Amino acid sequence: MAIIHVDGKQYEVDPADNLLQACLSRGLDLPYFCWHPALGSVGACRQCAVKIYRDENDKVGRLVMACMTPAADNTRISMGDPESKEFREGIISLMMTNHPHDCPVCEEGGHCHLQDMTVMTGHYRRQYHFTKRTHLNQDLGPFIAHEMNRCIACYRCTRFYNDYAGGTDFGVFGSAAHVYFGREQSGTLQNEFSGNLTEICPTGVFTDKTHSEHYARKWDMQFAPSICAGCAVGCNISPGERYGEVRRIENRYHGELNGYFLCDRGRFGYGYVNRKDRPRKPMVKRDGALASVEVADALARVRQLLAAGKPVVGIGSPRASLEANFRLRALVGAASFSSGMTRHDAELTDAVLNVLRDGPVSAATIRAIDEADAVLVLGEDVLATAPRVALALRQAARGRSLEMTREKKVPDWQAESAADIAQHELNPIFVATPAPTGFDDIAKLAVRLAPEAIANLGFAVANAIDGAAPGAVADADVAAIAAALKAAKRPLIVSGTGLRSTDVIHAAANVAWALHKQNPAVLLSLAVPEANSLGVAMFGATPLEDSLARVAGEESVIVVLENDLERRLPQKVLEPLLARWHLVVIDHQMTGTVRRAEVVLPAASFAEATGTLVNMEGRAQRYFQNFDPAYYDRSIETLESWRWLGRISGGVDESENLDDVLEELEATLTQFKGVVEAAPSSKFRMQGMGLARAPHRQSGRTAARAIVFVHEPRSTKDADTALNFSMEGYSGAGRDDRPPELLPFAWAPGWNSPQAWNKFQTEVGGALRGGDPGVHLFEAKKQSPRYFSPTTTQRGGGLVLVPLYEHFGSEELSNLADPIQARTAKSYAVFNALDAQRLGFDEQSVARITIGSVIANLVVRTHGDFPSGAIGLPVGLPGIPPFEPTTTCSVARGG
Ligand code: SF4
Ligand code: SF4
Ligand code: FES
Repeated sequence: MAIIHVDGKQYEVDPADNLLQACLSRGLDLPYFCWHPALGSVGACRQCAVKIYRDENDKVGRLVMACMTPAADNTRISMGDPESKEFREGIISLMMTNHPHDCPVCEEGGHCHLQDMTVMTGHYRRQYHFTKRTHLNQDLGPFIAHEMNRCIACYRCTRFYNDYAGGTDFGVFGSAAHVYFGREQSGTLQNEFSGNLTEICPTGVFTDKTHSEHYARKWDMQFAPSICAGCAVGCNISPGERYGEVRRIENRYHGELNGYFLCDRGRFGYGYVNRKDRPRKPMVKRDGALASVEVADALARVRQLLAAGKPVVGIGSPRASLEANFRLRALVGAASFSSGMTRHDAELTDAVLNVLRDGPVSAATIRAIDEADAVLVLGEDVLATAPRVALALRQAARGRSLEMTREKKVPDWQAESAADIAQHELNPIFVATPAPTGFDDIAKLAVRLAPEAIANLGFAVANAIDGAAPGAVADADVAAIAAALKAAKRPLIVSGTGLRSTDVIHAAANVAWALHKQNPAVLLSLAVPEANSLGVAMFGATPLEDSLARVAGEESVIVVLENDLERRLPQKVLEPLLARWHLVVIDHQMTGTVRRAEVVLPAASFAEATGTLVNMEGRAQRYFQNFDPAYYDRSIETLESWRWLGRISGGVDESENLDDVLEELEATLTQFKGVVEAAPSSKFRMQGMGLARAPHRQSGRTAARAIVFVHEPRSTKDADTALNFSMEGYSGAGRDDRPPELLPFAWAPGWNSPQAWNKFQTEVGGALRGGDPGVHLFEAKKQSPRYFSPTTTQRGGGLVLVPLYEHFGSEELSNLADPIQARTAKSYAVFNALDAQRLGFDEQSVARITIGSVIANLVVRTHGDFPSGAIGLPVGLPGIPPFEPTTTCSVARGG
């Protein structure tokens, strides 16, 4: 540690930091623009100027940029010195010369770093009264609005979009006072992390278009600490609500997971919460149509069905909370509880769980992926299946520049020096997938192989690292991959369930385990299909087909929890079964399964419920209810799924709250030990108060329901959590001391923008104070592993189906949001170019593909190196039926 002196006071700081970082880490307020904890320093904006003194006798000092000056031991600086204050005020005056001062109509207003910094710097009045430079704005697609006149030329956007996220369709144009940040021409931003521009830009150049359509100021929204359900990474999010609608999603900092960044699916895919066609009242089918009924009548009907002596099956869900799945299990009994995953999905997820739980190699956090120095990606297109992992892989590749700068004794935060020193040097990333990925550009080697060949490659690499591991004879690529992984300090193996091959997962495990014998720092990152896949797998429940087969021939009652069976099973399998079933469905979307139900109980979505999800690392994380929809519309009768299930059983006291369910879960199933600790309980209080969900400056709450009724009822009482549905309650004081799990949004005195996360971290860019949220439910074992052996798959002749994934379109819930639909590709089928030629297809052709009894007419795409003998189909896109890689199909020219 080093001691620095700031305006006569001593602070202990990390000497590896620059002075700006060091001051912010100690809670001091120093204005800045171009520096960002994830992007480092470039010294461009000159906003962070401080006076530095040679020693205690130096009374004159000189101005330096804090972000460009090391926090060396015994450094003496002044932030309050008149010259540095005047300099900073002068800089912001210059920046504001061309700024339109349009805060009242700017959607950044109220959570704008530029507003905060102008106030912090003392620039209160417009000083330039002449004509301003103006720009034309661009249409950047359905996610991002563009207002270039607000730009202060800090260059953060291009440093994030191009350098950090690898985007190629954005940049800086022009020169001097006419620099322009945008695309060459108007058009949709293509990078899957474009939404981060709304937070990285310190002013209102890039704002969230999906928010714009139902805009509310930050202080007029209510927030909750929440978890993204867009994939199993489990990024922490801060949804903002107004009038019973989610209005936008912002990043909620988590030091080990998402850090400062979300993917576009997670940020813009929330629209399903606001859909008008959601089931909002209980419904019972009468004369073939669903009709709304009273809650008591719906519950009575369900109880009557359950008491009729017919076999009962409960179908759980990998997109529902642990609590809901557990309550369903309690209702139907462990033997009749299904995980809701198909047999193959369950096998694959179990394979991941077993590798992580029973093997010696831990699952990597996103931060650990950022820091990996050699990576093998085995089969998984993580940009689509676990997007935040893909952004981290890019940082892993760029990490080479850090090593090179460290060798030259240049500090890590010197971003431009690092880029200059490294030039195009990257850490080695090896990618083996069937189709091109969005991160091939950072790969030292990107090979296109069929799933079996990918598994064989993995087994061979493991064998090349440790001869005791079973594997095929090594070739040059195998030797190069093995050598790079062995030479690495922090090697990482990335794989997952995407290719639907247990062999691929086992091959990845073998590579990691072989490396572990030599290097215990090796990590695994294994993607699983849905937000709570691993949590549901931990119940050890029966897969879908097996549960259904048990009652296939009988008139049965099937209780389905937040699960659309039409997405899992082919119609041919489902139809005959449905005819004999009484279907009770609890869900928050109007799915195909809901339409077929006899009784529908309207579930709360993630924004209206509190629950726990287990991410792909095995980290249990709590998401908190954002708002009570019935506060605005008393006709809405949604309930948390676990509450519906408790009420059905009737044996549960209606005062039961989430703590009771979690305690019972932990007591019943030892594998969930620790889950209670994922967040403070409902009894938690600070200074005797619950914690506020809304900003304390919230205006007009008393008028919020005026449209409904003139009297204002008291805000809903939250029985399940320590948070209040209002701005009342504890909302932090000074350096905020709330537990990080209960932080609904970033705000600190003088810091209204997302930059306020600085105020909640142990050090800037580090862990949240109190520890990053979540509890790991299992740890890697110490014992030596037994290697997996490849299985031999007997394939029939003909073309093999290979699952492919899209960032937009493959995930179920985000697909129901309009902006995501606007970005979803038309369904297609990928062929090897020579196969396509042989079949008489070109890129304009339509292929008629028969999968079982389903016919799909799909636009043909060809890739020269796509594996021959395979057809790639994008999972989840419209018109693509559920399929297994072993499904037989036939292909003909379509129309
Ligand atoms: S657009 Fe925003 S992030 Fe980009 S240079 Fe301008 S102010 Fe900075
Ligand atoms: S990576 Fe996954 S969890 Fe994170 S924001 Fe994207 S969809 Fe959500
Ligand atoms: S933040 Fe230091 S120069 Fe921009």
